[in-house]
Amino acid sequence: MDTSLQHHFVDWFRGSSPYIHAHRDRTFVIVFGGEAVADPRLPELIHDIALLRGLGIRLVLVHGARPQIEERLRLRNADMRYINGLRVTDEAALACVKDAAGGVRVELEALLSMGLANSPMAGARIRVASGNFVAARPIGVMDGIDYGHTGRVRRIDAQALRGIVEAGAIALIPPLGYSPTGEVFNLSATETGASVATALGADKLIYLMEQPLPLNDEGELWTNLLPPQVDELVSRKDIDPRVRVYLNHAADACRSGVRRVHLLDRRVDGVLLRELFTRDGVGTLITAKPYEDTRPARMDDIGGILELLEPLEDQGILVRRSRETLETDIGRFSVVERDGMIIGCAALYTYPDDGMAELACVAIHPEYRDHGRGDALLEYMEQRTLTQRMTRLFVLTTQTAHWFRERGFEPSPVDSLPMARRELYNYQRNSKVFVKTVAPARPDKG
Ligand SMILES: CC(C)(COP(=O)(O)OP(=O)(O)OC[C@H]1O[C@@H](n2cnc3c(N)ncnc32)[C@H](O)[C@@H]1OP(=O)(O)O)[C@@H](O)C(=O)NCCC(=O)NCCS
Repeated sequence: MDTSLQHHFVDWFRGSSPYIHAHRDRTFVIVFGGEAVADPRLPELIHDIALLRGLGIRLVLVHGARPQIEERLRLRNADMRYINGLRVTDEAALACVKDAAGGVRVELEALLSMGLANSPMAGARIRVASGNFVAARPIGVMDGIDYGHTGRVRRIDAQALRGIVEAGAIALIPPLGYSPTGEVFNLSATETGASVATALGADKLIYLMEQPLPLNDEGELWTNLLPPQVDELVSRKDIDPRVRVYLNHAADACRSGVRRVHLLDRRVDGVLLRELFTRDGVGTLITAKPYEDTRPARMDDIGGILELLEPLEDQGILVRRSRETLETDIGRFSVVERDGMIIGCAALYTYPDDGMAELACVAIHPEYRDHGRGDALLEYMEQRTLTQRMTRLFVLTTQTAHWFRERGFEPSPVDSLPMARRELYNYQRNSKVFVKTVAPARPDKG
């Protein structure tokens, strides 16, 4: 490996380490279609899945078998019938479904068992468990059409699945369900995946899709969506109906307690690893709560705030604050939280007698700068200033004067500060003072 590649590798490995820790012992439900199984690159996907298991992630795999079912039907000169987007599973089709699902299962189990020296999975020793975890009921007759053995998920045996994944095995779930009457039903893997993830209260539901991900009006990938935004997207006419199915199940799963649903394009090489171990990922993440949120700080944010401020204190950009000071002042802080990490903070010290407040400790993590977060945080702090009935905001800064000036702060003499603050002014530090009169947000900005 040449030196630059080695550096790249070291950077990449270091960059991924927070995610390795964060994912350990978490439960992920990964859903993929029979297309992934038919793809000659299946061993790569299975290798990545085995790697996730090796990193201590609890895995449930839900697979489809559509191309395999269709192939078997073709051999019998039959077709799967679809009515209103729903398949009709007659006796002949059911035989193909069982055969195809069984075949796919064996193939996946074989690949997950590969442990030959010199193969990417050497020494992996992965156990796989499959079984009757999904209870189903028939869709029944709708508008006079009998959908036969096409079913809906009725119940998931979450306890059994939990036992399997906690014991370190991978649970493998085919698109089949069984009824208490002993019948077999053909299920959609997408629905089954969502039901499994919901029943388990999974940390992640990951859909490996065969279609390109939906794009926003700028032609870019939606990086994060909340369930109401997903609903809005679903209602658009130009959305591929197959993608719509994923979106609907994703939003439902989110609303039912699955913390994160990832939509990924399965055809991208290494898509699982790229999504799970890089900062910004490569897919669309759907979360019930905003992925990034600005909010008042809590005691358990102190570690994150300290980590953010320390390098800036070392550079002399911010005045040093001890953990004790932070603990006492935590009520004055606001933070920007992204995916559980503190990536921004600011504090407000009020001087009610003077109608003034000091904006202090403004910081955005270096990796997240230049995307308007500083601006948004400032606006948030201005609103906090107003709710505390202050109208003038001041800052003392040595190196960030222009940033504040460009945002409406005016240079002011030290004696414009509230008396109590003036007494603390550090003449040696010689910070510049800037003041801004704060106005309520425009109504169109909410
Ligand atoms: C100042 C800071 C909070 C801005 O955060 P941000 O998320 O990058 O802010 P925005 O994206 O809204 O603004 C970025 C713009 O500010 C400019 N900027 C960043 N730091 C600046 C500085 N010290 N002086 C002047 N402009 C600055 C950037 O060049 C960029 O300008 P551009 O849009 O013309 O390219 C961030 O740079 C930071 O944490 N700095 C270190 C801590 C600090 O200085 N805090 C203030 C202490 S009083």
